[in-house]
Amino acid sequence: MPILNRPETMERITTSAQAETFIQEQIVDIRAQVGDKKVLLALSGGVDSSVVAALLIRAIGKQLTCVHVNHGLLRKGEPEQVIRVFRDEMDANLIYVDAVDRFLDKLAGVRDPETKRKIIGGTFIDVFAEEARKLEGVTFLAQGTIWPDILESEHGIKAHHNAGGLPEDLKFELVEPVRILFKDEVRVVGKALGLPDSMVYRQPFPGPGLGVRCLGAITRDRLEAVRESDAILREEFANAGLAGKVWQYFTIVPDFKSVGIKDGKRVDEWPVILRAVNTRDAMTATVENVPFELLSRITDRITHEVKGVNRVLYDLTPKPTGTIEWE
Ligand code: XMP
Repeated sequence: MPILNRPETMERITTSAQAETFIQEQIVDIRAQVGDKKVLLALSGGVDSSVVAALLIRAIGKQLTCVHVNHGLLRKGEPEQVIRVFRDEMDANLIYVDAVDRFLDKLAGVRDPETKRKIIGGTFIDVFAEEARKLEGVTFLAQGTIWPDILESEHGIKAHHNAGGLPEDLKFELVEPVRILFKDEVRVVGKALGLPDSMVYRQPFPGPGLGVRCLGAITRDRLEAVRESDAILREEFANAGLAGKVWQYFTIVPDFKSVGIKDGKRVDEWPVILRAVNTRDAMTATVENVPFELLSRITDRITHEVKGVNRVLYDLTPKPTGTIEWE
């Protein structure tokens, strides 16, 4: 049976040799727990679910079915990367669900941030449940629960059920192979499993994705402006060696316009807001001191390459008084 609690004496996994030992132990445990039954996993492409997928593929191969729901609120290149890494390179059973229109149609005209979050979370469960019902004979649900999730749920800080809220008729036993690991250990294990650095060292990304960075009612054109500007910011931070150093950095596009000039003509277009913060626990955060030359370069690229954008602003606000996200 899998271990449910992190043993007090367990050493922190920091080396690839320790990760390899953990992987071998997990393979034995997973095979013992699952036998010849089938396992289902919601694979977002985030660190935890990706590491769980890679571990399960090693342990039980095609007995695992991964479902990747593209809700249209992922960063540029993410759905493609999930398909490339898991279907093409690891030969996983991967169901890719293009639910972009379904999510964006439901979100159309919805301004309130909490209502947007509820729609995104609720629609995700609906889409995942529909896929699960199409499959025959699935006994287990794999989840990327990690040790801080358990600690925080014990202390009432958050409910940790990643795929929680599934309807009553979908009752699965849980497989949680990284349950006793801290986040940094999950990354070491992911690296040992051969996952790309861009997946293993990925910055935190909220469940509702770009949906909370396209402020107010989401429109497809403004969402594209968030996605494209975010890709430019990430590329420029990577080129400047800041990618692994800054804790979280992203762009926001508000739902108002200002006047500007392009090609000698007045244009009413959106601003892009840049945010780059450092923190230990996300409860408080400081603002990264980004070199002015880099900010200027990013501004130049965004205002010339992203459709509908004529200004770039840098958010200088620490948390508190700001939160990290804008809604
Ligand atoms: P705030 O904005 O509260 O963010 O300072 C703290 C951290 O939490 C992330 N965040 C979310 N993550 N669902 C998530 O999974 C959400 O609705 C959500 N809102 C904020 C945020 O990106 C930051 O890392």
